[in-house]
Amino acid sequence: MVAKKIILSNQKGGVGKTTTAVNLGAYLAQMGSRVLLIDLDSQGNLSSAVSADMKLPSSYDVIIGRCTPEEAYQKTPVENLHVIAGGIDLAGLSVELVNELAREFFLKNALAPIEQNWDYIIVDCPPSLGLVTINAMCWTEYVIIPMQCEYFAMEGLNLLMRTIANVKKQLNPHLEILGIVFTMFAVRTRLANDVVDDVTAYFPDKVFETKIPRNVRLSEAPSHGLPINLYDRTSAGALGYESLAEEVAARV
Ligand SMILES: Nc1ncnc2c1ncn2[C@@H]1O[C@H](COP(=O)(O)OP(=O)(O)OP(=O)(O)O)[C@@H](O)[C@H]1O
Ligand SMILES: [Mg+2]
Repeated sequence: MVAKKIILSNQKGGVGKTTTAVNLGAYLAQMGSRVLLIDLDSQGNLSSAVSADMKLPSSYDVIIGRCTPEEAYQKTPVENLHVIAGGIDLAGLSVELVNELAREFFLKNALAPIEQNWDYIIVDCPPSLGLVTINAMCWTEYVIIPMQCEYFAMEGLNLLMRTIANVKKQLNPHLEILGIVFTMFAVRTRLANDVVDDVTAYFPDKVFETKIPRNVRLSEAPSHGLPINLYDRTSAGALGYESLAEEVAARV
């Protein structure tokens, strides 16, 4: 078995990439899969959301070859769910890689030795389309795009779609969009439903059936270092991510 590879990407900040990576990973692990989360963001939000020890080696150390992925992964509070932490070193990585040969493939080469050991490897990207995100796109098979239902959502989406198409054409022919997931969804608002209709019209097969509701429990859970399945498994947010995990497992 080779791991299913998924990245969470959207260059827009605060759309729910990290929340989706953590909780999708947690439910896939709860369903019995061995899941590795990788934090590629210098903010380290994913790492703290699963109580990672930031003193241990990070994804930066793995990417630059200072240590192996086996030396960097650590346990989380969820059984079957492990993490390679992110951290501040990642902030300078794009600049460090820029003059390297095959600079887009550092993540892919670094992770190659461990792909047999996991059912899923899920990577949380930073809010940019810089070299770190391009490394993630060159490694993965699937992109999940979290989106908030805002008026300008479509504009950012077009740039992201073009970037994915370019990477697919020039660097990684296996790259596919697994789906677009709406986060912080407000069911009864006109705007939310209009945005979903617009995006669905442009990308008919790509929008996940599951919409993640706006739910305060999802925003509280990271401060306790727990994914939502351990923090409040009966909350609307938990039910949303459980349903998304089932949809993802069926699609990959
Ligand atoms: N469904 C939700 N309901 C309520 N709050 C949410 C929900 N999803 C995410 N949040 C909160 O919104 C904020 C942004 O979410 P998150 O960190 O997941 O986005 P992001 O895309 O990873 O951000 P960044 O681009 O900074 O990495 C966080 O404070 C998070 O707790
Ligand atoms: Mg994030």
